[in-house]
Amino acid sequence: MKVLCFENNPQAYSDTTLRQKAGPVKNINDELRKTALEMIESMRKEKGVGLAGPQIGLLKRIFVTHAEGDTARVFINPTIIWTSQEQVKYEEGCLSVPGIWADVIRPESVKIQAWNENGRAFTLETSGMLARVIQHEYDHLEGILFIDRLPETKREKVLVKLQKP
Ligand code: NI
Repeated sequence: MKVLCFENNPQAYSDTTLRQKAGPVKNINDELRKTALEMIESMRKEKGVGLAGPQIGLLKRIFVTHAEGDTARVFINPTIIWTSQEQVKYEEGCLSVPGIWADVIRPESVKIQAWNENGRAFTLETSGMLARVIQHEYDHLEGILFIDRLPETKREKVLVKLQKP
């Protein structure tokens, strides 16, 4: 399982699977469970804390997380049903945008509804690191990257850096 990234490929910035909106998962079956497991393995191997379908070329609404101090989790067809008024700044990076780290402001807490790999619906309210990872991964399902959420001047610097060999 290869993680798609923008390294030395500026064209990819606006024209890849990473920029498209992912479609719903239709069946939570053995094949999907296998994919979820492989995503968790890839995430660990790459030392990431989250990985979303589009990052492996799969335009489906699935992502996995493994925030510090938490277990690995699978989110299928998720909906963020609430975000806190309170926002926090936190440094983010992304396996698809290698070598870039930048502060992003997001709600501190979220409530999310999703299905797990066994087809069981669940609702989770969380804050801190896991809330951060959930929002970052959810964005991937919408074709949004964390660099899109940076102030204009900062984003331009990042784009220049991404295009350097
Ligand atoms: Ni990412």
